[in-house]
Amino acid sequence: MPTSPLTATEQRFVAQLLAEMTLDEKIGQLTQPEKNSVTPEQVTRLGLGSVLSGGGGNPDPNTPANWRAMVMAFQEAALASRLGIPLLYGVDAVHGHNNVVGATIFPHNIGLGATRDPDLVRRIGRATALEVAATGVRWSFAPAVSIPQDVRWGRSYEGYSQDPALVSELAVSLIEGFRGDGWDSETAVLPSVKHFVADAAATWGSSKRVNREAMAEVQNADQSTDQTLAIAHMDQSFTELLKLGAWQIDQGDAEIDEATLRAVHLPPYRAALEAGALNVMASYSSWQGLKMHAHQYLLTDVLKDELGFEGFVVSDWEGIDQIFPGEYDRCVVAALNAGIDMVMVPFDLNRFIDSVRRAVLGGQIPHTRLDDAVRRILTAKVALGLFEHPRTDPALLELVGCDAHRALAREAVAKSLVMLKNDGDILPLRRGGPAVLVAGLDADDVGVQCGGWTVSWMGGRGPTTPGTSILAGLRHTLGAEQVQYSADGQLDAEPEYEVGVVVVAEEPYAEGMGDRASLTLSADQVALLGRVRARCQRLVVVLLSGRPLLITEELPHWDAFVAAWLPGTEGQGVADVLCGDLPFTGRLSFDWPQNSSDLPRRADSAALFPMEP
Ligand code: GLC
Repeated sequence: MPTSPLTATEQRFVAQLLAEMTLDEKIGQLTQPEKNSVTPEQVTRLGLGSVLSGGGGNPDPNTPANWRAMVMAFQEAALASRLGIPLLYGVDAVHGHNNVVGATIFPHNIGLGATRDPDLVRRIGRATALEVAATGVRWSFAPAVSIPQDVRWGRSYEGYSQDPALVSELAVSLIEGFRGDGWDSETAVLPSVKHFVADAAATWGSSKRVNREAMAEVQNADQSTDQTLAIAHMDQSFTELLKLGAWQIDQGDAEIDEATLRAVHLPPYRAALEAGALNVMASYSSWQGLKMHAHQYLLTDVLKDELGFEGFVVSDWEGIDQIFPGEYDRCVVAALNAGIDMVMVPFDLNRFIDSVRRAVLGGQIPHTRLDDAVRRILTAKVALGLFEHPRTDPALLELVGCDAHRALAREAVAKSLVMLKNDGDILPLRRGGPAVLVAGLDADDVGVQCGGWTVSWMGGRGPTTPGTSILAGLRHTLGAEQVQYSADGQLDAEPEYEVGVVVVAEEPYAEGMGDRASLTLSADQVALLGRVRARCQRLVVVLLSGRPLLITEELPHWDAFVAAWLPGTEGQGVADVLCGDLPFTGRLSFDWPQNSSDLPRRADSAALFPMEP
């Protein structure tokens, strides 16, 4: 029998509050608009339970203080409602408080998996929670507990590993970091374990997120009639990305049997619930053809009854709309009856509220289901101590991007690097040794080393947030005179260099925008590598990527190869290890495929470098 995380007194408080609520106040608690689609006045009048910032949902100017002012304005509005139920503001702090300019950006999960260091991840969770709470936010849509089966998926980097046990261990560590001294402490941040379930098991080509025929005439997402995709603002045109494979697998169908779902994809949820997680986010994907957002067996029978989940399930962004496209009332009924408790609407909150009201009054959604959803939401708010302290201490703002957190991120970067080749022990680079040629635009680009979910939803090139590039780190360690830099590797005849270091990166992306049919290096990247190869006796390649890429053909021409994943703002951590101030300790937490035929990962897939124990 599930046991409540609340004391008997707290449970009575929730029951009494629920009994006082009107139908509309109950519906208000289930409603989560995005911050540009709601006003504080609506929060007060409608008694809304939550507001979110989607990727890039930032105040302007985007500063920690402005973030706090924005969030607290919504909170004060909620406290001014008839019952004064505090608001839960949600953000995607998935590798630090990554929407906020100036926040510490940690390595994405694929790099943290390579550290194999639960204590480090716990400390990252705590530092992230402090920076999130500083802005008045008490809920982050993390950790993703995805277990990527096909690294052509644009969300592979949000997974810690392809090993369920390691995913469980690190997810629990992050949750413990978010919790700190206790869920009811002022700087505890509610985690959202996502995306339930088997989000990373979809089959390539099964995604229906984008109607490729209808979108073909659209030159880029900006002109799309799809409000969500229009937010993407990709550096590459939408049509070009579709041709590369965008939205082919993300949000697709997991055609796996129940035994595989239970053995591979469910364990991290069991572990997270045991660690006290009180929120789970439903997946856009389907299982055996049925949308997770309408999956009563998995959302209610398995998650809530069998696993005893006492918290609340939040939908994903417009997630319920995909159940029966164009039939919104049917979507609302199916989702809430399946076990969705709060809906990330995010745009038209009045349409959602009116639809729920019609369904409850019409008997399609039982009052008991509505009450259960509200009770679950109130349970999380009481557990977080929001009724006692809905406002966090503004003095916490000085912690956003502070030196101690950046030092922690630098430690994480160093521990995440995986050395996959080092012929002749060319690494570490020697201080005071011969001049080192560093080449590639990506060696000097903080935005590229952060990747997606950084300041904007997709992330982007350039100095998008304060940080240290890899080049700056190498210059700091070796001294500017020992480091020569060439962005394009176009060098005059002399001199020849003893060592060349080339940094190549994936263009930042998030979600289905990052689905790729081919994972080989681009022609420009291969040409850059060839130019530097021709001018250097020894060649070191550093790859910044959200997943293993297919480098089997090029690898023989490299003397050393380092996987640096998406390290975040502290590129000094890369230099620390390349120059031997710290050892290489990172271990692959994913299989590195040999060829495209090895995708998706199968028992008989050939790995160029197998996942390490
Ligand atoms: C996105 C993602 C989810 C994220 C949510 C809010 O579409 O699927 O991971 O937490 O919307 O930004």
